Amino acid sequence: MGRLIWNPAWETGIATIDAQHREIYACIEGLFRSIRQGRESEEIPQAIGFLLAFAETHFRDEEALMDRSGYPRAEGHRKSHGRLREMAKSLPLEPGLDQEDPAGALLDFFTEYLISHICEEDQPLAEWLRRHPSASGEGPRTGSAGA
Ligand SMILES: [Fe+2]
Ligand SMILES: [Fe+2]
Repeated sequence: MGRLIWNPAWETGIATIDAQHREIYACIEGLFRSIRQGRESEEIPQAIGFLLAFAETHFRDEEALMDRSGYPRAEGHRKSHGRLREMAKSLPLEPGLDQEDPAGALLDFFTEYLISHICEEDQPLAEWLRRHPSASGEGPRTGSAGA
């Protein structure tokens, strides 16, 4: 399995969303590293538990932003979060559970979330938020001169 690399196409320009996406990416990257190094049982389910709790917080934050800003595609986006929540159930959460292919389940989640969901659902939401900054309370990132 090759190294995961953060893709700049995943940046949405909405500070809170980007910070959470980077955190989710960092969790998944760390998990792949642990699996590759053959680090066992206890550590991996714990890290997956953290990833899923964090992802859940993130989905709720995005859903709250959609509600506050009157986002017209909220229903489809929510459904997509629902599919990710379902998919997350196949991740190995139990210590000692001899899952056939934990990396495979994680890779599916990673592909579905970071690649499909961010590009197809989060980016259109971010565009909406950029156009309606006062309704959402979110705006484009500020600072970072020269970026
Ligand atoms: Fe989302
Ligand atoms: Fe997201």
